[in-house]
This record gives sequence, C-alpha cells and structure tokens, in this order.
Amino acid sequence: MPNQPRQNLTVATTGASGAIFLKHFLDAAQRDRRITAINFIASDAALRVMAEELRLKGRSNLVGQILGFPGGRSAQKIRQQSNDDIGANVASGSYPADAMVVIPCSVGTLARIAHGNASHLIERAADVTLKENRPLVLCVRETPLNKIHIRNMYRAADAGATVFPLVPAFYYRPASLDEMAREFAYRVLAHLGLPQPGAFRWKG
Ligand SMILES: Cc1cc2nc3c(=O)[nH]c(=O)nc-3n(C[C@H](O)[C@H](O)[C@H](O)COP(=O)(O)O)c2cc1C
Repeated sequence: MPNQPRQNLTVATTGASGAIFLKHFLDAAQRDRRITAINFIASDAALRVMAEELRLKGRSNLVGQILGFPGGRSAQKIRQQSNDDIGANVASGSYPADAMVVIPCSVGTLARIAHGNASHLIERAADVTLKENRPLVLCVRETPLNKIHIRNMYRAADAGATVFPLVPAFYYRPASLDEMAREFAYRVLAHLGLPQPGAFRWKG
C-alpha cells in the first residue's frame, strides 16, 4: 500500500557503497513531521564504508555524525539499535513498525534476507517486515551483478520486498552528488506514501 503514509520506519544501512544516499534519506526522514519514529541499524561493514565515504570517526553519536550535526547533537526521533541486539524492538512483529528501508543494501545482506538467514538484527527485522506483509525496500548496490545477486533479488521480490536499486535518475540534471542523492531519497519516501514537497516532478 504505497500511498498510506508510514509513520514508524526502520532504516538499516549495510556495507555497500553509497553512504551519501543514507545521509540524505535520514535527513529527509528526520525532517518529515509525518514520521514519528525511526529505528536505525548499521552493520559493522557499513561503519567501515561510512568511514571512507563520509569520513566518520568511530561509532559515537553515529547519527549526529552522518547528519553533520555539531557537538554530539542527534536527531531526537532517530533511535540507534545495535545490529547484535536480536532482542531490540524491531526484531518482533508485535512492534508497530510500518516499513523498513535498507539503504544502501549490500549483496551480502540481500543474500541473507533472501534466504531467511536472520542471525543479526538487520536481517531479522527484514524477515519480520516480510512476514508481517509490511513494505520492505532494498536499495541494492553492486556492479556488475552476478547470477547469484540476480537470483537473490528475484527471491526477495518474490517474497514481497521492493528491490529499489541505487540507480539515480539523470533527466532532471542534478547539479551535484548531494542533489542526486536527495532526489533518490525523495523517491524512496514517495514509494512509502511520503511524497516530499521539494521533489522533482517530470511534467512531460
Ligand atoms: C569501500 C567498500 C565498498 C564496498 N562496496 C560494496 C558495494 O557497493 N556493494 C556490496 O555489496 N558490497 C560492497 N562492499 C563489500 C561489503 O562491505 C562486504 O561484503 C560486507 O561483508 C557486507 O556486510 P554487510 O552486508 O553485513 O554490511 C564494499 C566494501 C568496502 C570496504
């Protein structure tokens, strides 16, 4: 049900390239007043990639670092969860999460989700999202794709996930990487029934 606004989001990030897309997604989500709660989970590999791409230092105040908030300030409605904590709220279908987005989604995490391997919180939360028939958006990033990746994308889509590859559009002529990543984040939010006022709209 893409047109029903989602208020309680689970946002996971994994060790694929494209941390700038996560940054803009979190930024837009934390500004959107319709979204009341965000549970945020980062894999260990995501931290490694974010260190390269966003020049983050360590795990402390991770959300504040991603969003570029000064002085250890963090976004109030974003609650960080440990990927090792299989007892966190989003590990249970009884917790009222509305939808989950994995951005970026590595092909390793894709494989584990596609095969129901729920050994860490990210995969468990994705498994729960699917079993509860809630929207699960996988922003997969890898190139080139081998047949294992393609089969796993099919398996995940067949189980109810939306494979939303990290493939930005160019027809609105983005002036910067930030603009490109922000428009992509807006597209993901629109897919969850959360259209953004500043989003580019093709008029034909
Ligand atoms: C700088 C860097 C970039 C990477 N880019 C990708 C990528 O685009 N896609 C991908 O699937 N894996 C990529 N990897 C490899 C994953 O991080 C690795 O397979 C990791 O085990 C994934 O773990 P996770 O799925 O638990 O996050 C990259 C690794 C590094 C260090």
